[in-house]
Amino acid sequence: MKTLHTVAELQSLRADWRARGERVAVVPTMGNLHRGHLALVERAKQLAERVVVTIFVNPLQFGPNEDFGRYPRTLPEDLKALAGLGVDLVYAPPVEEVYVNGFPPATTITVAPLSSQLEGHFRPGFFTGVATVVAILFDSVQPDVAVFGEKDWQQLQIVTRMVADLRMGIAIVGHPTARDDDGLAMSSRNQYLNAEERARAPAVHASLQAVAAGLRAGRRDLESLCDEACAALRQQGFVPQYLEVRTPALDSPIASTRDFVVLVAAVLGTTRLIDNLRVTLD
Ligand code: PAJ
Repeated sequence: MKTLHTVAELQSLRADWRARGERVAVVPTMGNLHRGHLALVERAKQLAERVVVTIFVNPLQFGPNEDFGRYPRTLPEDLKALAGLGVDLVYAPPVEEVYVNGFPPATTITVAPLSSQLEGHFRPGFFTGVATVVAILFDSVQPDVAVFGEKDWQQLQIVTRMVADLRMGIAIVGHPTARDDDGLAMSSRNQYLNAEERARAPAVHASLQAVAAGLRAGRRDLESLCDEACAALRQQGFVPQYLEVRTPALDSPIASTRDFVVLVAAVLGTTRLIDNLRVTLD
């Protein structure tokens, strides 16, 4: 497994692979890898002969009051976790290598109107930061396929839409959310929780399950269904930011909808947690 920090070295290796007709799968990450990330890597292995993992804490997707400064950076541990998984290359560029003409870049990508809803409503600029860095990383790696987690459902939809609209010709594959035994979706941000908060954190997943149970029982009073789940979260000390039922493409559901996704963001202490659950009725 190679670790490279410059796009020139990356592209020289990429050219060798292309010459041999080998397909490349990429898994973009911000590092601090956990089992959820590693599952994406294992999926990528099945999709192409070569696997590239990118590790880059992208300043463009953090708001001024967000955790860019304290986001955990653990490259040596990440490299250890990836060793043995059959990864060919870890690309871990510095900021100057990604934003070649200075930071912030003059040119950005916004997938409207998806980018200003749900997560985007509470984190203005976040999805522009994500779409822009993913486009730059795609241009650097030139992958045939890219794997993203369903944990960040809206991000997955936005990247899929960007690739289609800009005709990037990259297959986007979503992979299911890895959870701890008590249902909490794995996230690098979970380590911000103290022991008492960690004990309450499964309430986020439980709130989604409650809404899912209501949908399966035939309830379509979505507003009161979500209000009830929010009330349960508040009781556990959370400040819910949104809890909504949408279609998988993130439109508002209509009467005939049978395939839903329930999405939630809630703050506990100083930690913001997000999760979602797909509900398919047969
Ligand atoms: P990061 O939060 O490091 O996540 C990298 C990838 O891992 C994303 O596709 C995310 O959805 C996936 N992931 C995170 N937790 C997961 C879990 N519990 N189960 C399954 N997959 C999980 O998402 C980002 O980084 C950035 O926005 C990025 C796309 C790299 C752009 O900077």
